[in-house]
Amino acid sequence: MNRAIVVGSGISGLRFSLFLAEHRSVLLLTKKEAVESNTNYAQGGVAVVLGEDDSLDLHIQDTMKTGGGIADPEAVRTVVTEGPARVKELIELGAQFEFDSNGKLVMGREGGHCRKRVVHCADKTGREIERILLNAVEKHPNITVMQYHFAVDLIMREGRVAGVLVLDPEGKLIRMSANLVCLSTGGLGRVFRYTTNPEIATGDGVAIGYRAGAVVRDMEFIQFHPTALARPGASSFLISEAVRGEGGYLTTISGERFMKKYDPEMLDLAPRDVVARAISIELKRTGDPHVLLNVSQLGSEFLRRRFPTIYSTCLLHGVEIDKEPIPVVPAAHYSCGGLKTDLFARTTVPGLYSIGETASHGLHGANRLASNSLLEALVFAYRGAQSAREEPDIKVFEDEVVGDINSKPPCGMTDLYSERLNLIMSQNVGVFRNIDVLQKTAFELTAIRNGIQRLVDAFSSRRELLELSNIALCAELIVRSALKRKESRGLHFLEGYPQVGLEFPGTNTELINKVPRPMIWK
Ligand code: SIN
Repeated sequence: MNRAIVVGSGISGLRFSLFLAEHRSVLLLTKKEAVESNTNYAQGGVAVVLGEDDSLDLHIQDTMKTGGGIADPEAVRTVVTEGPARVKELIELGAQFEFDSNGKLVMGREGGHCRKRVVHCADKTGREIERILLNAVEKHPNITVMQYHFAVDLIMREGRVAGVLVLDPEGKLIRMSANLVCLSTGGLGRVFRYTTNPEIATGDGVAIGYRAGAVVRDMEFIQFHPTALARPGASSFLISEAVRGEGGYLTTISGERFMKKYDPEMLDLAPRDVVARAISIELKRTGDPHVLLNVSQLGSEFLRRRFPTIYSTCLLHGVEIDKEPIPVVPAAHYSCGGLKTDLFARTTVPGLYSIGETASHGLHGANRLASNSLLEALVFAYRGAQSAREEPDIKVFEDEVVGDINSKPPCGMTDLYSERLNLIMSQNVGVFRNIDVLQKTAFELTAIRNGIQRLVDAFSSRRELLELSNIALCAELIVRSALKRKESRGLHFLEGYPQVGLEFPGTNTELINKVPRPMIWK
């Protein structure tokens, strides 16, 4: 029986592999160490209806409302309804979420939620989930993990996926056969200069799937997290929204609480698009370099216990959060769009699945509700595996080495393109957008992408260059999608175009766009 190939070792890839491995063998490829995933950095937790004062309907309402009128109601209902069972499975696998002395899960609160419904493990929830899933994957006899193996492109035969072209750590290009492929490579935050995402978040899955012909959608909806640590050298370290959920609040440097101007009801726990916009407006108004997140009133003992990672990282950067406020600014955090899938994680390309941030399952619409993404990954990993086990058992070639990148000279120009691209994306495609600026950016991005493609053709296709090529393609998809949406909705705020309300439901625009799709390796 031919194997499945899963690309990515975050919650989506690991959970899908575990479900599917009950029925067929799985090869899991990851470009770095398996533990190095976006999941590993998730602080907040998993939003799920397991609290006594909560209901599925309330979680559905919050998700729909935050999604700016274009979240897919079926996807929302599916994730919210099936979520509790998937979270209980994690607990059975050994996840050490926080329980109170009566044996009840302790729920955190985050922006856009009308109830406390975020299960968590201090501020290391992602790390805990990654730990237990990796542990289970490593023990599973049907799963092989290959670290430092980079997926370059899909191999297609007669319109369906037949395998993956892989760059191994020695520089060999190998064609690996598969009867189905799941792209779960996480996000694309590295398109931007300022991002909470780790270095691996280079949009590989979206780019690989798009090049193979998959439809992408909603790429314009980049979520900027309102509170990244604003300290030189802190790499936009994430200060979890859970901090505001526990009573932290925002002020200007001069001490003004400003959220009441922007959302008098939800205040500091308004959805992320509202808070990030509010901060950006305040920064423009005051000319200040950052706003302040006030938390010291929560007490030293509580802060150290509930937010140990935030506490120690801030300390490392000279901020004693139990004594002084945290300087914060918004930073790119999450891509709500991606490869369009159905409710079984199937993309528009036969044999190609996608789960998690790489995918657009329809849950988020124009803005993701906080901590819904880990839940989404769990639900679609399960549903995807149900469908994947029925895929035909084809094998059209044997694995073989088809190239060696060491035969070409290394390329030293990657940084020039990368810095320029990151800069224009952060400057021009942020919280506020402008149609003329977007048009100029699209033009420059096409030139950058062509330049990168010439480097790929002429020089050694080292991983960094292939990643940059993926970043450039994602950037172009984001900007072209933004140009198509001539309104302001959710995370996409276009100057001069009116903000729509929830009363205009609209539909998700699909991007059957004209960005070329050349495979990287010819
Ligand atoms: C956070 O902890 O604020 C981030 C969680 C998320 O992105 O949902």
